Amino acid sequence: MTNVTRNEKSSKIKAPIVEALKKAFECPSYQFHIPGHTKGNGSLPDFKKLIGAKALSVDTTDEFDGLGTLHPATGPIKEAQELAAKAFGAKKTFFLLNGSTAGNLALAMGLTKTGQKIITNRNCHRSLLTGMIISGAEPLWLIPKRLEEWGIWGSVTPESVEEMLSNHPEASMVWITNPTYEGVVSDIKSISKICKKYNVPLIVDEAHACLWNFNDHLPTSALKLGADAVVHSLHKTGGSMSQSSMLHIAENSMIDCDAVEKSLRLLHTTSPSLILLASLDAARANLESPRGRKQLERAVQNAKYLRREIDKLEHIHDLKPDFGYKTDITKVFIKDDRLSGKRLESILEIDFNIEVESASDAGLLILSNIGNTRKDMEYLVRCLQQIDKTDYSDICYLENKKYMPMLAPIIKMTLREAFYSHKEIVRKEEAIGRISAEVIAECPPGISVLLPGELITEEHIPYLVDYEFLEVIK
Ligand SMILES: Cc1ncc(COP(=O)(O)O)c(C=O)c1O
Repeated sequence: MTNVTRNEKSSKIKAPIVEALKKAFECPSYQFHIPGHTKGNGSLPDFKKLIGAKALSVDTTDEFDGLGTLHPATGPIKEAQELAAKAFGAKKTFFLLNGSTAGNLALAMGLTKTGQKIITNRNCHRSLLTGMIISGAEPLWLIPKRLEEWGIWGSVTPESVEEMLSNHPEASMVWITNPTYEGVVSDIKSISKICKKYNVPLIVDEAHACLWNFNDHLPTSALKLGADAVVHSLHKTGGSMSQSSMLHIAENSMIDCDAVEKSLRLLHTTSPSLILLASLDAARANLESPRGRKQLERAVQNAKYLRREIDKLEHIHDLKPDFGYKTDITKVFIKDDRLSGKRLESILEIDFNIEVESASDAGLLILSNIGNTRKDMEYLVRCLQQIDKTDYSDICYLENKKYMPMLAPIIKMTLREAFYSHKEIVRKEEAIGRISAEVIAECPPGISVLLPGELITEEHIPYLVDYEFLEVIK
């Protein structure tokens, strides 16, 4: 069950930032402050026409028109964060600009110190690496099982976390990505019990799972399973606008909430976009509403329908939601046994005007979103049926580039030390045997092929087809 306790039929779900912005729009002031386009009057007419005069007239930052402030949280922004905390089951929620990236940076900056060891999975998002470059903390890598046939990573096992904690009593935190980009879920409940036994905090990067608290067919959020802090990219699947995310501190969390808030204040822009903040407020209110619940249930049913239809095809297969791991059913990873994922992606794009979330050499990821209709899904199914029947032997070729990095890094220097060392640029072929000075992690999925301090080997080359030069330690 979700956290919504109010009687939704009789009471309107509140969205304080949306309300405040609406008021500001209805009673406009004479504006002698930023943003200088002043309600769109100073904007390029074509741009204004494209995004709408109304959007520009509510493009403002905090401090003005009774809209409250982000740091410290005051007024409608404070109220909206409190409502979000309640909806997601957190003690405290921070609204994030610059995505979950900002949340991960603040967690690393606020909670870790130079030389501290952080247990994390090799397939973590690059923002954790950036966080550790900032703080000087160092990763201890958990290497999940690799599912080579699908070209994806499996879950983080509780056993691997326990083994790492018992071998490294100096480790000060466990920081897990859950689910993976393709929706593979780890046993957070058991991992959290282990973390409590060793008295270290557990942070869960749930960037791809902000919907879980709002539908019983989806896995359980780490906030309910004992994690201390969780980040959610509301903009990815929750319905808010691009860049907007949330960072939640759990009830009974053992982390220093003030330290995280202080870091966030330093990392955030000093001119937060009220449109983005309002979109977070609106997304939370929508997910709590009967309408939002229906949309989410539709997304789940659409995913089931898509999977049922794919089951009937000859060449195209989906990664089954029970393929050995728990998964998020709304993330549908498919592959065609005749084509690379990239090739399938371009057929969908060029021949059918369909864009998917991501593609790799192995397959591609389709998101069944709260905004997708059954008609969207039916169209996708018809296109997949047509592709399944088509002979592509004349255009099928093997990908010469690997997309999902699946290597265990050989570390020669710490992230921070390598990042701030003297560097030089060398041709890729000459870089073998040298130490990388940069993060190479293409998005999506933002998992690093190379990290600062890592030894560059032959094995990296298939992942670096698009790179002619690399930055190495001098
Ligand atoms: C696991 C994970 N964490 C964090 C992020 C960063 O999220 P955002 O794009 O909201 O900054 C991503 C982005 O893809 C991600 O996949």
